[in-house]
Amino acid sequence: MDDTQISGDLTHVLFTKEEVAERMTALAAEIDRDYADKDLLLVGVLNGAVMVMADLSRALKIHCRMDWMAVSSYGSGTQSSGVVRILKDLSTDITGVDVLVVEDIIDTGLTLSYLISNLRSRSPASIKIMTAFRKPEAARNAVDVAYVGFDIPNEFVVGYGLDYDGHYRNLTSVGTLAKHVYS
Ligand code: IMP
Repeated sequence: MDDTQISGDLTHVLFTKEEVAERMTALAAEIDRDYADKDLLLVGVLNGAVMVMADLSRALKIHCRMDWMAVSSYGSGTQSSGVVRILKDLSTDITGVDVLVVEDIIDTGLTLSYLISNLRSRSPASIKIMTAFRKPEAARNAVDVAYVGFDIPNEFVVGYGLDYDGHYRNLTSVGTLAKHVYS
């Protein structure tokens, strides 16, 4: 789906499909360099990171494994609840493994803080974070993110895996959702 199909639902497009693809390829090149001799496991956070994971992993030139976690976050609203629950855990033992957590978006960073401390307790060799999008509050909270696709304004955005009430994940670009859709 592209933005012309849902134009009334967006106030504006922040990033086109091409801009997102170009940025993911650039981040993959950095990750190639940083993990050249490592045993890399990409941990995607479901459901939002599906598109990021698919694009990033295929842009890598090094070997990597992939696993997934699902945690509860927003439910059907647009505000973080602060309540984090593991809905699906990893199938991989990450002891001694170099883990790169792949996120769609970091807003308050609450979800991620919980996830990282949980994963750290399993003694990985290293643990870093990659996110496609980051909002200002996360940047202020100094959540230590190694790879950021785009820093974005504090607006509710959809597309490229990001949803509102389960919809818009399959939008190829990323845009700001018009208030009339959720108010
Ligand atoms: P945090 O715990 O506040 O950092 O929230 C992170 C999670 O909230 C993300 O993984 C998304 O699922 C969701 N989220 C935050 N901001 C947005 C947005 O603008 N659009 C869609 N989902 C969002």
